[in-house]
Amino acid sequence: MATHQRIVDDSYKTPIQTHLNYKDKTAVVTGGARGIGLALARQVAELGGNVAVLDYLSQPDDEFDELEKTFGIKARFYQTDVTKKESLEQSFAEVVAEFGRIDGCVTAAGIVYDAPFLGDSWENVIRAQMVNVVGTYFSAQLAARQMEAQGTGGSIVMIASICAHQTLPTQHVSSYSASKGAVKSLGHALAVELGPKNIRVNTISPGYIYTAMIEGVMERFPSLAALMRDDPPLGRIGNRADIKGAVAYYLSDASSYVTGNDILVTGGLHVGRSNPPTMTK
Ligand SMILES: NC(=O)c1ccc[n+]([C@@H]2O[C@H](COP(=O)([O-])OP(=O)(O)OC[C@H]3O[C@@H](n4cnc5c(N)ncnc54)[C@H](O)[C@@H]3O)[C@@H](O)[C@H]2O)c1
Repeated sequence: MATHQRIVDDSYKTPIQTHLNYKDKTAVVTGGARGIGLALARQVAELGGNVAVLDYLSQPDDEFDELEKTFGIKARFYQTDVTKKESLEQSFAEVVAEFGRIDGCVTAAGIVYDAPFLGDSWENVIRAQMVNVVGTYFSAQLAARQMEAQGTGGSIVMIASICAHQTLPTQHVSSYSASKGAVKSLGHALAVELGPKNIRVNTISPGYIYTAMIEGVMERFPSLAALMRDDPPLGRIGNRADIKGAVAYYLSDASSYVTGNDILVTGGLHVGRSNPPTMTK
């Protein structure tokens, strides 16, 4: 027999499946024509939500075409350059005209390149900051403006990187690291500024995830490819499925009291390597 005073709060009895349900909601996914973004667009559809994909490519991978039929949702593609004001604004306007609302925004559009710091060029550095930082910034702004106009609140999820937390051996990604650190910091600032409007802003920091972006690097640098496979304590490179749970959590009401957060999805790489170099005399 309980003797303590009981609080009256039945909210915890709502099943988690109800919180995760995204039916009648719409999410925008930038960089969703392929790779992690496409997996996240599918994840929105799996939860019953409509999805608008914005990407620089002229068309998405074939798998995108399955979404409407497989999940009974609305999915549209908008060719967009997130670094171009007119292009981004036009696509967001078209999304609102087509879907009537935006409840979630996932910014996955991003680029990486390998260049030693001492030889990096203005062109490369500016391009990376434009896509990874400026494109993310204004995608989040356009989504938040629509959420504010609706008065519904919403959730913005920005893809940062393990590079926002630590420098990985053998890679030359100073410009990329700077851009992803900026994305993570942007998450803190927006969480504070948009919290009173019930717009939550969180980031995800993936480690090595097997996509076209990584495949190119693995082909050029076989020793790095071995590190990507062997170094994470969980003993494998990540795959796109590994990111979906974090996005489902952030986008949905399952995380209704979570903002300004970052989830590392690295197989444990951010806390230690399973294959460190041996100490020799
Ligand atoms: N794959 C990894 O190991 C890894 C690790 C950490 C973070 N990330 C981040 O995850 C995100 C997705 O990466 P991915 O591995 O799927 O790469 P990807 O290259 O397969 O996908 C990136 C997408 O962004 C799009 N894009 C690039 N520039 C754009 C622009 N100006 N406007 C609109 N779209 C543009 C590309 O066309 C592409 O479809 C990126 O932000 C990346 O930095 C990836």
